[in-house]
Amino acid sequence: MPVHIFYGSSTGTAEGAANSMVEVFEKHGPVEVHDMMDAEIEALDPADFHVFVCATYGEGELPSGAEYFFQTLDDAKPDLTGLRFAVFGLGDTIYEDTFNQAGKLISKHIKDLGGIRVGERAEHDNSGEEDPDETAVEWAAEILPLI
Ligand SMILES: Cc1cc2nc3c(=O)[nH]c(=O)nc-3n(C[C@H](O)[C@H](O)[C@H](O)COP(=O)(O)O)c2cc1C
Repeated sequence: MPVHIFYGSSTGTAEGAANSMVEVFEKHGPVEVHDMMDAEIEALDPADFHVFVCATYGEGELPSGAEYFFQTLDDAKPDLTGLRFAVFGLGDTIYEDTFNQAGKLISKHIKDLGGIRVGERAEHDNSGEEDPDETAVEWAAEILPLI
């Protein structure tokens, strides 16, 4: 069963975190990394495992480009019953009211279409001490046995 990692990133932090996870998930099987900016919703297959790695922008929105992916999803409303997924969100606690909102939105979108979230939804804080790539690797290692 392949693992698909979708990232939504404007300045590269989420992209870097997504790429850092690859070696962890390769212990499970083949891994494909997709930029949500050019991803097609057809890439979502309930038979595979999906990881969403996404930064928050604006007033709690997805990075531009990633929004299109989820708008298409909302319009098409594919049946994602049984699609298992995990979410690694990135944000900054200086945005108190909308901290890591994109990860929450993604989780809700996919659950509303029938998906089942696995593990804890990570909330990386860009103002914190934690390195995003190291945090991503540690988080992925926790998700790995749950796939
Ligand atoms: C203009 C701007 C708006 C942001 N808005 C939010 C926000 O509303 N909530 C949040 O948690 N983080 C917010 N952030 C922080 C980013 O999500 C965070 O720095 C993230 O690591 C950036 O990831 P990227 O480099 O992959 O784009 C914002 C950052 C910028 C520059």
